[in-house]
Amino acid sequence: MNVIYYFSGTGNTLFAARKFAEALGNDTQLISISSLNRAEKTDPWNADTVGFFFPVYCFGLPHIFAKFMERVVKWKNHENAHKPYVYALCTSGGMKGTAAMILDNILYEKNLRLDAAFHVQMPSNYIPLSKPPTEERCQRLFKKAEEAIVKFVEKVKNRKKERPIRVFPFDMFGELIAQRAVDCMMENYDKYFWLNEDCNACGICQKVCPASNIIMMNGMPTWRGHCEQCMACLQWCPQQAIQFKQVTKRRKRYHHPDIKVEDMFRNQE
Ligand SMILES: Cc1cc2nc3c(=O)[nH]c(=O)nc-3n(C[C@H](O)[C@H](O)[C@H](O)COP(=O)(O)O)c2cc1C
Ligand code: SF4
Ligand code: SF4
Repeated sequence: MNVIYYFSGTGNTLFAARKFAEALGNDTQLISISSLNRAEKTDPWNADTVGFFFPVYCFGLPHIFAKFMERVVKWKNHENAHKPYVYALCTSGGMKGTAAMILDNILYEKNLRLDAAFHVQMPSNYIPLSKPPTEERCQRLFKKAEEAIVKFVEKVKNRKKERPIRVFPFDMFGELIAQRAVDCMMENYDKYFWLNEDCNACGICQKVCPASNIIMMNGMPTWRGHCEQCMACLQWCPQQAIQFKQVTKRRKRYHHPDIKVEDMFRNQE
């Protein structure tokens, strides 16, 4: 049995996870991290292959994903213990940073290492920083991503070792700062979201929020101060009513075209 745990805000990583699962075989289970109970531990280690799929945030791991890894139990390394093949796939806008190495360090604490770390470039969804690439560029990225995934799946099937490679000293430094940058970003960053007059109170933003950070009050979405900065609410709003500071007013919205908004509701498969 194969299992893939994924986190996705705007569908890029979910798309990659689905393609991967399709090619890996029928006995592959896709599990949305944001649908899991946060009070419960997770034990993934009975599967033959265990994949962790996530988007890169600030060259590191999304906070929600790092918190999930804290809840993953240690692999019990005893005689005759079944050892799974463990791999990661991150999607990014092109700069994967040290995300795989940070995950490898976390796994070390659980008595395992990453057997392989894969990366695919996708359109960047971080709209406060930049608008999405052109349609043509997006299509080229999707095509390359699909081609890469086919090759990665063969590597997983053959249990190939492709461990993350650290480039000294840059990656050591990167590992130290990346996760702190993500944590800093989390703090009250949703105070910069605001609504324009186009909001029709449909509630989609609330449904796609993986952190349950949005509640509808008097028919209007309200952010509650524990945002993951995944950009799902802003990018999926059908009215383009959600803005971040002043920079998003004229920027086109982005989400993966093959993923439907319903697929993102509570991120359940
Ligand atoms: C908060 C945040 C930080 C990001 N940081 C990076 C980064 O450091 N490097 C990068 O290449 N892309 C970065 N991105 C872009 C995403 O990694 C990329 O678009 C990813 O494919 C989104 O996946 P998703 O659609 O599954 O959420 C960031 C996106 C967000 C929302
Ligand atoms: S998704 Fe957009 S239109 Fe719908 S409630 Fe949220 S902000 Fe308003
Ligand atoms: S409030 Fe918006 S950006 Fe923040 S976690 Fe929820 S969906 Fe993502």
